[in-house]
Amino acid sequence: MSLLIAGLDDYLLSVLPSRDRVLARIEEDAARRRIPIVGPAVGRLLAQYVHLTGARRVFELGSAIGYSTIWLARAVGESGQVFWTDASEENAAEARRNLEEAGVADRVALLVGDALASLDATEGEFDLVFNDVDKEGYPDVLRRAVPRLRVGGLLVTDNVLWDGALRLPACEDDAETAAIREFNRLCYERPDLETTILPLRDGVSVVRRIR
Ligand SMILES: C[S@@+](CC[C@H](N)C(=O)[O-])C[C@H]1O[C@@H](n2cnc3c(N)ncnc32)[C@H](O)[C@@H]1O
Repeated sequence: MSLLIAGLDDYLLSVLPSRDRVLARIEEDAARRRIPIVGPAVGRLLAQYVHLTGARRVFELGSAIGYSTIWLARAVGESGQVFWTDASEENAAEARRNLEEAGVADRVALLVGDALASLDATEGEFDLVFNDVDKEGYPDVLRRAVPRLRVGGLLVTDNVLWDGALRLPACEDDAETAAIREFNRLCYERPDLETTILPLRDGVSVVRRIR
């Protein structure tokens, strides 16, 4: 019944290039402390979309200890800017150390508090928004983040296949599952958006604002 492809993650991890010292250390820390991070396959995807679109201004919703932020910040280059957001002061302190160790702290702004409130409080438009907040917030993210993208900009969202649970009847009433299902439906339905769901890891959607 699962929507996810058995064995895909293990295969991809076996062929992905090894990461540098700081990313490898954060991956180990996150696994040991059960901190949910996107991991290297999705990290590379984020960097690739930044490169493909030439994104320079990136807003991240839900950044934890900065693992995905490092992939984004490296990809935007020295002249780019990434906004890190998280509700946790402790995560901010740890992320700051990780970003410094990765050599990208100067191009990342740390915004502690509700991620969408931070987006509302930050002026200007973005080339790419990466969404990894609590899943019940996904429909709200779609409503509030898309207007902040330049036309042609991308909203990239993690966990849109939600561990393969979207088609399981037992999950019908689960609020997180319902919110992701609604988010995916809206992404495909809206005529101002061009959407693809990639079955990578836990599912990643790539939404392009077309007008
Ligand atoms: C899945 S983790 C982010 C992992 C990170 N993107 C990575 O891959 O390295 C989600 C984080 O978002 C934070 N978070 C969830 N919902 C949030 C919200 N509405 N506002 C601010 N932070 C939020 C949580 O505290 C958590 O640290």
